[in-house]
Amino acid sequence: MATAEQLKSLIQSHLSDDAERFYSIALQVAAHEARQGHIALAHDIRNIVDTARKTKGAIVIRFPKDMLGLVLSEKPNIARSALVISKTLEERIERIIHEYQQQHKLKSHGLSHRRKVLLIGPPGTGKTMTAKVLAYELHLQLHTIQVDRLVTKFMGETSSKLRQIFDLIQNETGVYLFDEFDAIGGERSLENDVGEMRRVLNSFLQFIEQNASDSIIVAATNSPKLLDKALFRRFDDVMYYEQPNDDERKRLVANVLGTYLHPRLVWKKIISESRDLSHAEIDQACRDSIKNAILTEQYKVDTTALLNALKERLGAHNGLRR
Ligand SMILES: Nc1ncnc2c1ncn2[C@@H]1O[C@H](COP(=O)(O)OP(=O)(O)O)[C@@H](O)[C@H]1O
Ligand SMILES: [Mg+2]
Repeated sequence: MATAEQLKSLIQSHLSDDAERFYSIALQVAAHEARQGHIALAHDIRNIVDTARKTKGAIVIRFPKDMLGLVLSEKPNIARSALVISKTLEERIERIIHEYQQQHKLKSHGLSHRRKVLLIGPPGTGKTMTAKVLAYELHLQLHTIQVDRLVTKFMGETSSKLRQIFDLIQNETGVYLFDEFDAIGGERSLENDVGEMRRVLNSFLQFIEQNASDSIIVAATNSPKLLDKALFRRFDDVMYYEQPNDDERKRLVANVLGTYLHPRLVWKKIISESRDLSHAEIDQACRDSIKNAILTEQYKVDTTALLNALKERLGAHNGLRR
């Protein structure tokens, strides 16, 4: 049987018309039943939830018209198992998910779940992907705010736009990703209008401080140096992303190639050839070689094919650097 807490939450979420929460608790009940060995029941509950989700469709949010093009909304479909990151980052993400799922328990003790996260690291290491994973795992929509556009397009009224966005964060629970965040978080980002950027940064700091919604706020940036120190303490978590190490590169290749993986890959070579590449570049090389395997009707990616694809990426990468 479901626990008393689960029953109460189910009723609460139904009465407050919170369909996503209702589904999420129903799935927790299914997991609970599965652990008790009630596999058929768990299976039935999951089916009911899946069907309801499909027929009810995605939640549509009404953004003010002038925000179109600034905020991109989607319902991502990437599970946490696809993310190849360090154990530490994995645990941090796990904790965010866990606290979100247990938010009612925390609330009843006057605590709130951790939900303001700053992701820092080089391009292509999984920052945007992490926001997608969080949205997927928490059954929330992902709303991506293009911060650089917000700043350039609405020069002079960026703060009022930010206020609108934070109103949404308050009213529509979701994962909100401020991408290219250094455009506002930077102390010197737009040197031609330092005053305006200061104001924008200050309003952001205020908004994020005051925000007591259930939404998850993720800010991502490639350039930590540009970030204002006052920002860091506003976040519950500051997470550093890095280029993949040997083990991570191997795991990534194995993950992406999946069934296309040739049983006898020379890992040593693959690991050393991919040394300077980011996750995104390795991911791309793997996909290129899968396509090639399909088009040449081999259906397996062998060492030579993968090394070629990696070299090609490395060439593109080095060309860019020069
Ligand atoms: N840590 C990772 N694990 C698995 N795949 C990754 C990872 N980082 C990047 N990728 C792949 O590269 C793509 C682009 O990465 P992204 O998350 O947009 O990078 P960032 O936001 O850090 O620049 C992802 O959609 C995914 O396919
Ligand atoms: Mg990104």
